[in-house]
Amino acid sequence: MNAPSRQATHQKLTYKLRRMRREDIAQVFSLEQRIFPTPWTQKSYEFELERNPASEQWVIEAVSAAEPQVVAYCVCWLLGEELHIANIAVAPRFRRRKLAKRLLCFVLNRAAEKGLRSATLEVRAGNHAAQALYAAFGFVEVARRPRYYSDNHEDALLMQLPQLKAADLASQPETGREGA
Ligand SMILES: CC(C)(COP(=O)(O)OP(=O)(O)OC[C@H]1O[C@@H](n2cnc3c(N)ncnc32)[C@H](O)[C@@H]1OP(=O)(O)O)[C@@H](O)C(=O)NCCC(=O)NCCS
Repeated sequence: MNAPSRQATHQKLTYKLRRMRREDIAQVFSLEQRIFPTPWTQKSYEFELERNPASEQWVIEAVSAAEPQVVAYCVCWLLGEELHIANIAVAPRFRRRKLAKRLLCFVLNRAAEKGLRSATLEVRAGNHAAQALYAAFGFVEVARRPRYYSDNHEDALLMQLPQLKAADLASQPETGREGA
């Protein structure tokens, strides 16, 4: 039998950003378990979707000929004048395609339009990929929480974007190539 053609494995994908729905929780939780050493539980996602009035949740799904697949997600909390990025992740196979950048752009713009003034988040001191992403948006380290994470007692950096203003979404790509 012939090996699958290169064309078949490099199918064109479209990425769609939309609100997280209850039926996404299984996919989100499966990613969460693969990505984080101390994953959020399914119940915590149910709480965010159904009972936390301060919470907004977003996903990016990859749409192709096959079933749409959740490949990135973000949970944020609107706390008075502050936006807190509570969780953001991209499926390993879909990284470095600017999907996290697109999600962040979207939630920051949305918060700015709603009149929120600043944004914060916590990140592991050793998570240089995420820190580079946040720094590109203007987040700066404002505090360090020693031994914050329960699994390895790693420090957390508290990062803040002091002045929330509309970011430029025009440069964000709508499509990409699978397996690129
Ligand atoms: C951090 C994470 C969300 C980035 O997602 P991503 O979709 O791959 O990021 P993007 O493609 O949008 O990258 C945007 C910018 O972030 C920075 N960046 C992202 N990944 C990076 C890496 N591995 N090393 C260095 N910089 C990186 C770069 O500045 C990049 O811009 P560039 O591609 O023009 O160089 C992803 O690696 C991830 O899910 N990690 C595990 C979960 C996690 O750490 N979440 C954050 C918790 S605080």
